[in-house]
Amino acid sequence: MVKKFFEWLKKPMGLIAVGIAFLALFSGFAYWLNTTQQSPDQPIQFPHKTHVAFGIQCLYCHPGASKGPAAGLPSQAKCWACHNQIAKTQSSALLAPLKDAVLAGESLEWVPVAIVPDFVQFNHRPHIAAGRNCEECHGDMSQVNVAENPQVMNMGWCLNCHIEAAGEDQEKLIKLSDCGTCHY
Ligand code: HEC
Ligand code: HEC
Ligand code: HEC
Ligand code: HEC
Ligand code: HEC
Repeated sequence: MVKKFFEWLKKPMGLIAVGIAFLALFSGFAYWLNTTQQSPDQPIQFPHKTHVAFGIQCLYCHPGASKGPAAGLPSQAKCWACHNQIAKTQSSALLAPLKDAVLAGESLEWVPVAIVPDFVQFNHRPHIAAGRNCEECHGDMSQVNVAENPQVMNMGWCLNCHIEAAGEDQEKLIKLSDCGTCHY
């Protein structure tokens, strides 16, 4: 049986079949390569624009921003509370991954885009308490479809604003530019 198969492979028809199989594999690989190169690879192409336009508050989905260090990304339960009542949820291809996650009881693994390295201490709370708004650091999210980092969150960026925020207040300047304020 196996021997017969190899003999057949050597005949023209067999060679063509091998060629077709190879092409199929190759195009599958090319497709995979192409789709994995697209970024950002979020589980759902979440449109900020649509949701902010409906008047949903930033803090509804990112409540940690006013309370603590991390703003937090919403769980699927938060999405579903609204989407299970929206007709479009049944038909939208964009929302299929949300339905699948809810049915399977799996959580959505959002890929963070706004990040500073672990050796930097950033806390949202003092910034929000000082009256800074989300837009100053994250850009106008009401115009964004899939989130991208609008600027480089590096040391110079933090320091520039800290120096500006301190103004003439020397004590504040020392505090806000002290290495230990952001690295400890
Ligand atoms: C309905 C829920 C919802 C609302 C309202 C919302 N967001 Fe988001 N936000 C998300 C989700 C989901 C993500 C993760 C997916 C992504 O990055 O696109 C995200 C990501 C982000 C990110 C990128 C952070 C990261 O590292 O992933 C920023 C910054 C952000 N949101 C800011 C805002 C601001 C500012 C507002 C208000 C103008 C807002 N969001 C309103 C759900 C929401
Ligand atoms: C407070 C209600 C509410 C919450 C919470 C909410 N959404 Fe929505 N979402 C909507 C509405 C309303 C629409 C627009 C539906 C329409 O166009 O008919 C929408 C549209 C969408 C769309 C576009 C669908 C399409 O085919 O155009 C996606 C994707 C989406 N939401 C994902 C999410 C995700 C993910 C979350 C959780 C992070 C979330 N939504 C949380 C109300 C909500
Ligand atoms: C002073 C600048 C600044 C302001 C103001 C600010 N952020 Fe951020 N935000 C950051 C930085 C820096 C990070 C990265 C933090 C990290 O990696 O630990 C971040 C991260 C995030 C993330 C990613 C997820 C997470 O949990 O860290 C979200 C979502 C977010 N911010 C939402 C908001 C919202 C909503 C507001 C307004 C209520 C806001 N931010 C105000 C600087 C800011
Ligand atoms: C848009 C302006 C702005 C940017 C950008 C910014 N900050 Fe701040 N930061 C402030 C203000 C304003 C305060 C509060 C100052 C005060 O106490 O009045 C503050 C306070 C802080 C504090 C608390 C200091 C204390 O009193 O203990 C830390 C820590 C901090 N920032 C870290 C960072 C880091 C890390 C970054 C960059 C990743 C950053 N900040 C970017 C404006 C900014
Ligand atoms: C306001 C916050 C803040 C203060 C104050 C601050 N840093 Fe930083 N530092 C950062 C951030 C944010 C990064 C991450 C830079 C990046 O990702 O490019 C960083 C990165 C660094 C790095 C790594 C550089 C690199 O290229 O990876 C060193 C070293 C460093 N800081 C030293 C210091 C020293 C020394 C001081 C005091 C003179 C100081 N920092 C004060 C926020 C701060």
